[in-house]
Amino acid sequence: MRLYLDTADIDQIRRAVKLGVISGVTTNPSLVYKAGWKDYRSAVQDICAMVKGPVSVEVLGQDARTMVDEARAMAAWSEHVVIKIPVCDAGLEAISVLSRESIKVNLTLCFSLNQALLGALAGAAFVSPFVGRLDDVGEDGMALVADIVACFDRYGFGTQVIAASIRHPLHCVAAAQVGAHIATVPYAVLTQMIGHPLTTVGIARFLEDAQKAAGKG
Ligand code: G3P
Repeated sequence: MRLYLDTADIDQIRRAVKLGVISGVTTNPSLVYKAGWKDYRSAVQDICAMVKGPVSVEVLGQDARTMVDEARAMAAWSEHVVIKIPVCDAGLEAISVLSRESIKVNLTLCFSLNQALLGALAGAAFVSPFVGRLDDVGEDGMALVADIVACFDRYGFGTQVIAASIRHPLHCVAAAQVGAHIATVPYAVLTQMIGHPLTTVGIARFLEDAQKAAGKG
């Protein structure tokens, strides 16, 4: 399973990229608002230059034609740009146009197997089931990820499954267990994935013993 960072915060992306574990970034209009981007295009281009992998940016159009126009413009910003399009009639129509032009699309706000199937059939390169938001309303978000992975495997779809709306490290464990191709994680979750209390204690003890062995303890 690969890891993407789910943020529009350029400092967080810079820090995460240094770790060498992040191969893409996903953003959405709420994350962009939170990050306070002034110049959308140059922010996306900076992120693409840092990540050198897929960077999802979302269209805001409400009809297929506007979505396609926005997507074509954004795809020209960098070879790494992936267009995020929500599931709806217009979105599917736009995906089918863009996939014929080899513009990669990430189907977003996906909450059912039917929606994922439609996205794959329309030609989406990625589908993003929102795990945490399903859990929030009492459904099993990770069960949906598992169903989509199994369905795509069964029918040989090349569409990759991004476990999104990840809220805690156990979501990442479960995403890996059910075979998600990618989990996109907030920076805070990435940090939580690194730490373990026994690692902290172990490092301190090794350091202490090494100092004793050197006669400094
Ligand atoms: O990748 C989707 C993500 O940004 C949504 O997360 O926590 O707002 O449900 P959340």
